[in-house]
Amino acid sequence: MKYCVITLFPELIENAFSTSITGRALSEGILSLDTVSLRAFSQNSYGSVDDYTYGGGAGMLIQCEPVWLAYQEALSRIETKFDEECDELSTIREEKRTRVIYTSPAGRVFDEGMAEEFSREESLIILCGHYEGVDQRVLDRIVTDEVSIGDYVLTGGELPALVIMDAVSRRIPGVLNNEDSAGSESFENGLLEYPQYTRPKEWRGLSVPDILLSGDHQAVETWRLTEAKKKTKEMRPELLEKWYKDRGIM
Ligand code: ADE
Repeated sequence: MKYCVITLFPELIENAFSTSITGRALSEGILSLDTVSLRAFSQNSYGSVDDYTYGGGAGMLIQCEPVWLAYQEALSRIETKFDEECDELSTIREEKRTRVIYTSPAGRVFDEGMAEEFSREESLIILCGHYEGVDQRVLDRIVTDEVSIGDYVLTGGELPALVIMDAVSRRIPGVLNNEDSAGSESFENGLLEYPQYTRPKEWRGLSVPDILLSGDHQAVETWRLTEAKKKTKEMRPELLEKWYKDRGIM
């Protein structure tokens, strides 16, 4: 997966994404990350990329032209690889349009299904929103997916971009090693994850459930499913209802 992030704060994206599991995947070449600084495409001598909104109201809006030019730069960086392989660049542009994700609280709420869908792309461009937003004209022109990470408002789109990139990356083969299993976690089978325990067996008077020490794999599986349902019922009853419905129960 090749990420190209258009942002006012490239160092925030680069520093965070180069840490831990995604950092290892970057250095192993399983993932790649490029950032395009919006400020580099400022249309004035102050280096600003925002202006007041037409129609009044508080706050500033990011202007079209810096976003448009940053997008062209992102496309050309992503397509360098294709450039080398094929001279019919315009055909490739039409057939393999790179998805452009715009992070905004007004977008579709991100979930594991979207992470799975995005993980099947060869590359993703992510535009991080800021201030009161971005001029709608350029969004209409370039954005394929407007995505929110939840019903709350952050100061900018960089943290949401990182959340999306992290959830997408862990689905890409080779990013997680065997120990960091992706299979049985929350949302994978429509239920939240069952509780887990590690050594010691006794901790400050609290012990690990006996069944987990029994060596009876079938019994452990049954216990885990029961616990996963219990947890889902308590935290996200609507997910448990869907789980039953999907299985023709209820
Ligand atoms: N920008 C500000 N808040 C956001 C959110 N909740 N999701 C995505 N982008 C945002």
